[in-house]
Amino acid sequence: MPIQYLEESKTFYLSTPNTAYVFHVTENGYLIHDYYGAWVPPCDLRAYSARTGKASFAPSTADLLVQTDTAPMEYSTNGVGDYRVSALQIREYRGNASTDIRYQSHRIYDGKREIPHQPATYAAEDEAQTLEIVATDKVTGARVTLFYTVFTNYDALARHARVENTAAHPMDLERVYSSCCEIPFGDWQICHLYGDWTKERTFERKDLPFGITSMESKRGASSHYHNPFVAIADKNATEDTGAVYGFNLVYSGNFSAQTEKNSDGDLRVIMGINPTDFGWKLESGEFFDTPEVVSVYSDGGLGEMSRTYHKLYRNNLCRGPWKNAKRPLLVNNWKGTYFNFDQDKIYNIALVAHEVGLEMLVLDDGWFGARNNDKAGLGDWVVNEKKLKGGIKALSDRIHDLGMKFGLWFEPEMVNPDSDLYRAHPDWCLQVEGREMSIGRTQYVLDLSRKDVRDYLFDAMDKILREARIEYVKWDFNRNITEPASALLPAERQKEISHRYVLGLYDLLERLLKAHPDLLLEGCSGGGGRFDPAMLYYSPQIWTSDNTDAIDRLSIQYGTSMCYPTSSVGSHVATCHSTRITPMETRANVALAGTFGYELDITKMTEEERESTKAHVAEYHKYYDLIHFGDLYRVVPPDGKECAWVYVSPDKSEALLTFVCIRGRKTTRRTVKFRGLDPDKYYADESGTVQSGRVWMNAGVNRTAVMRDSESFKVYLKEIGK
Ligand code: GLA
Repeated sequence: MPIQYLEESKTFYLSTPNTAYVFHVTENGYLIHDYYGAWVPPCDLRAYSARTGKASFAPSTADLLVQTDTAPMEYSTNGVGDYRVSALQIREYRGNASTDIRYQSHRIYDGKREIPHQPATYAAEDEAQTLEIVATDKVTGARVTLFYTVFTNYDALARHARVENTAAHPMDLERVYSSCCEIPFGDWQICHLYGDWTKERTFERKDLPFGITSMESKRGASSHYHNPFVAIADKNATEDTGAVYGFNLVYSGNFSAQTEKNSDGDLRVIMGINPTDFGWKLESGEFFDTPEVVSVYSDGGLGEMSRTYHKLYRNNLCRGPWKNAKRPLLVNNWKGTYFNFDQDKIYNIALVAHEVGLEMLVLDDGWFGARNNDKAGLGDWVVNEKKLKGGIKALSDRIHDLGMKFGLWFEPEMVNPDSDLYRAHPDWCLQVEGREMSIGRTQYVLDLSRKDVRDYLFDAMDKILREARIEYVKWDFNRNITEPASALLPAERQKEISHRYVLGLYDLLERLLKAHPDLLLEGCSGGGGRFDPAMLYYSPQIWTSDNTDAIDRLSIQYGTSMCYPTSSVGSHVATCHSTRITPMETRANVALAGTFGYELDITKMTEEERESTKAHVAEYHKYYDLIHFGDLYRVVPPDGKECAWVYVSPDKSEALLTFVCIRGRKTTRRTVKFRGLDPDKYYADESGTVQSGRVWMNAGVNRTAVMRDSESFKVYLKEIGK
């Protein structure tokens, strides 16, 4: 039984194949955390949450049963003696904001329930078990339900909280995090993913200072700047060994991940909606659900943590017919033509693309309204017949006649001031009365919390998707939110707008996918500005970055791989006009560690480039299953000199190593070691060299050729027996 309640010690014991999570209820109803880590059998672990007594400055409960300021709390609250970062703060109708919840009841069931109107991991009855704990605050009347789901096949735990107002008066939620996790004293470091436009998800690992460390977004989107992911790693943990706790929020809006190391060195990690620019009014009888946090514990280092996330997200987060289906190999016209195209130009790209083996033409920005540059037309989702005679249908029919699929770009959430939509409905934008609206890429943000706005967007997109055969949509979002206020919300609910916006986005995505269940969505936000697990629930692939420089992509894709699976990483072989010149071979090798595709005017390729493209397309097919369903091992991080990674098939019968030389020097590493093979199996490379897995992993591959800047190679191994 993955979840058990041990009556005698009032202990909740939750387990996955290799981990256990344990907490108990005290005599006075506190939920106290005992243990999270490598698997232990069900037992009483209350002694592990005991903390030493403190001076009068660290309070305890009146009955002296709990040292509130040092005890590891299962879900920390504000204003009642726990001065560390708190998960919950409710302001009741009389104005005070102290919150205190005590255990009431629990239930355990197979499977996992949906979080209403929000994306989350899902599981069949035999794939997971869920524990619901109800704890109440007798003063505010808040009834808090803490949800914990453990997965039968993965070392992952999904958590979220629900707050219900059982009082007769309204209450205000001021902070309501999704999870609180207590990690005892240790030499912990924080790993996180920071970045910028064209520099998304850069990995950083640092010692944790005493006090609060915070990673967050206030941009209305999960953002390029910080990703809703942190890992707490033992200082000695490596890619392959050591304790690591990962936390990833299934949310696309303002998030906060905070750690607080207290003076004893104990660590608290909370994650959820960012309380800045947030509040939620709960009328009597109403409830509020937080988004979900997925945590993974690994004692096999960062690599094992990542592989757990990859499998869980591929199988229990991504949905629909495309989640594990082979995705069409696409060519996107953006970097090839930008706004400057007509039907023939796009058709000619498709013609050559088809000849070299590509399977889908994606028409990017510029096909609608007066959209000849990024200053006009956004919001007017009507085809520009001057560019595309006969509309999308005529073009899509021509493409389909070639035997290819067709995809189309949209940026539904935005509007240019120079557009018919804005002229008709200026009030549809997020804005503060009397204040000038900030502008980004010459566009404003539509108020997706409004149903009339969502209805317009749904109808406009639905019409286009019905008129022509369109198998794929790229859903873009090219600026962040400012002046977050809605013309329709009453004053006391304006603080809800950022979260309501995100819920509106989910609603629109859900509606579109219900109406067009076979559609393949690719998420995008000026590259990877909204690359988060919530978007993966709707779009199983996300454009990772507008930066298509093969070398810059190494660190972007390295960071992204911390929690997101290769099958979600949108990556293209692109033209080099805005990047450094790198060999076609390297661009292809780097793009192969993702969805793979092309983004250039393929008609301008030389004969030689077309031939190499055919070869890369053949490799894409050859390695598809290995790369998309295999296990990823990060062998050499992109440290400025080189980078290498390995994919190993689940049955360990084949493996592919890719090595990229960032800066060629005499000292460039010649020996690269495989990882993840079966040590006792024998594997042959393509030159016929046969070695045991043990030799490939310990002695590695020895390359004698001198490598120059940006050159790369692959080594493919196939099992030939034990
Ligand atoms: C964003 C996307 C690009 C492209 C442009 C179009 O920047 O990331 O891939 O679609 O918008 O305007």
